[in-house]
Amino acid sequence: MAKFIVGTSKGLKGNVAISGSKNAILPILAATLLTEEECVIKSVPVLSDVTALCSMLSDMGIDIVFQKEQEAIWIKAKNILKTEADYEKAGKLRGSFLIMGPLLARCKEANIPLPGGCPIGSRPVDLHLKGFSALGAKTQQAHGSIHITAKQLKGDKIYLDFPSVGATENIMMAAVLAKGVTTIVNAAAEPEIIDLAVFLKKMGADISGEGTDTITITGVKKLHGAEHTVMPDRIEAGTFMIAAAITKGDIMIENVVERDLKPILAKLSEANVKTEKIAEKTLRVYTTAKLQPISLKTMPFPGFPTDMQAPFMSLLSVIKGTSVITETVFENRFLHAGELQRMGAKINIESRSAIIEGVEKLTGTQVKATDLRAGAGLILSALAAEGKTEISDIYHIERGYYHIEKKLKKLGADICKVQ
Ligand code: EPZ
Repeated sequence: MAKFIVGTSKGLKGNVAISGSKNAILPILAATLLTEEECVIKSVPVLSDVTALCSMLSDMGIDIVFQKEQEAIWIKAKNILKTEADYEKAGKLRGSFLIMGPLLARCKEANIPLPGGCPIGSRPVDLHLKGFSALGAKTQQAHGSIHITAKQLKGDKIYLDFPSVGATENIMMAAVLAKGVTTIVNAAAEPEIIDLAVFLKKMGADISGEGTDTITITGVKKLHGAEHTVMPDRIEAGTFMIAAAITKGDIMIENVVERDLKPILAKLSEANVKTEKIAEKTLRVYTTAKLQPISLKTMPFPGFPTDMQAPFMSLLSVIKGTSVITETVFENRFLHAGELQRMGAKINIESRSAIIEGVEKLTGTQVKATDLRAGAGLILSALAAEGKTEISDIYHIERGYYHIEKKLKKLGADICKVQ
């Protein structure tokens, strides 16, 4: 299995360009099922989650070409030959469940394996199914799959008990071709929801309120093809900001949307990390004086993003003083703490909170990526640690970070990938 070998890397410097957002491209790819016309998606990150979803779609008879050098996907769902997804492939990524809404809207049925849980939590889909049932669909679970059918979807008012990103996206995609008006109350407001809504409106959908907690969708008869450039990945951007802070470097981060980064910038500034807007889509991140311990709590947008929790824990573990992280979104998202402790971090987990006593330095050793963002956090700690760190199970990291070792190496990091 491939590994990353990371050596101490002080003072990362230079420019890094952020790729398209993994959590935006996955629902947008699913949304192309809503039309039989061709769609062109640009700024697509070449990630294993994306190629896995493309493979699932082509198994269903969708014409799809992923031009990786151009980071572009040409896709045309003229004929959808089957409405069930292969267990093996669907199990590889949670994003596969996002094809349920579009299949229901377009084909009036779908048969999708329940997305497995993953290290960070059980990942239920009850809110997705609550939305589909409200629109008139019949759902039944058998042999680990959800089979869903509907004669005619009819708009309705749907209250989400939790502002679930995936449920908001799936319900939106089911509602765009339903009869009448659908209102999603307590909807997720993440930037990726806005990007999906922008793409759906380019296809002819009638949506308003995206980015707020109430989204209204008025069903239309048909959707047409569209072209779209995926928004930049705000979590990749945040990860590189931490790379600048933890190595006391000075990095120019290009292709960012400042609005999407507000909660991350707020917490970096509390920790005394300096950021400066150099151009419309370029941010400079650097440090001048001692960094400060902070408390942070992960919340749905516009709160602090749960996906930035592990990278931030790496930074806080080497800032003198006591920091507290509270994880309110997923029930088991502190797995990286154990790996950081092996590098010398002083972290005490008390149910949903991690109490971190910053240490002078971490020391390199063998560690294992337990999930996507935990793996990214381990790379960050390894950059600051004394000695070499060997990170295994890096397939987790490559699900969500395009060329992370190349981008870091260009900034002066001592990192290489070995088989
Ligand atoms: C999306 O997952 C992202 N994935 C996650 O990113 C991200 O951490 C998460 O949103 C929160 O921002 C993609 O977009 C592909 P949720 P999703 O539904 O949609 C509970 C990464 O690292 N819930 O908002 O699955 C659930 O258990 C990944 O890029 C229900 O109870 O997240 C969790 O506690 C990790 N019932 C909470 O809501 C449901 O039906 C948030 O889940 C759905 C969710």
